[in-house]
Amino acid sequence: LVINGPNLNTLGTREPEIYGATTLAEIEAGLVAQGAAAGLAVDTFQSNHEGAIIDRLHAARSDGTEFVIINPGAFTHTSIALRDAFQAAAVPFCEVHISNVYAREPFRHHSYLSDLAVGVMAGFGTRGYTLAMAFVVERLNRS
Ligand code: DQA
Repeated sequence: LVINGPNLNTLGTREPEIYGATTLAEIEAGLVAQGAAAGLAVDTFQSNHEGAIIDRLHAARSDGTEFVIINPGAFTHTSIALRDAFQAAAVPFCEVHISNVYAREPFRHHSYLSDLAVGVMAGFGTRGYTLAMAFVVERLNRS
């Protein structure tokens, strides 16, 4: 399951000097194809609403989701509720940031999720999603 949080629906036009020119639809299609090539079904979900993302995580507890790749957007830095949802869902996840959040404003240096994540990608551009998916493919095909 690939989840993208607030404002990521505007990728492609949003601050392209930071986030690049690739749209979310292109990223999602690429990840679905990458998963399919490895025999994995990839579901995608984007919302600008904290509660909707939390509801999707609750559903992931019982819908067979084996792994979550999430770019939580700004909720990374604000959402204890999202943290609690990940703890409750008990589904392994990778956190992805397109930009290098550690090279940006101090408020982006803290994540409420990173210590729960299997791993974190930051600063590899939209390629970070692909690299995270390559990791998931390896991990799920090994287990
Ligand atoms: C982001 C980094 C966050 O700080 C920011 O709020 C985003 C995108 C990234 O992908 O680099 O919305 O998660």
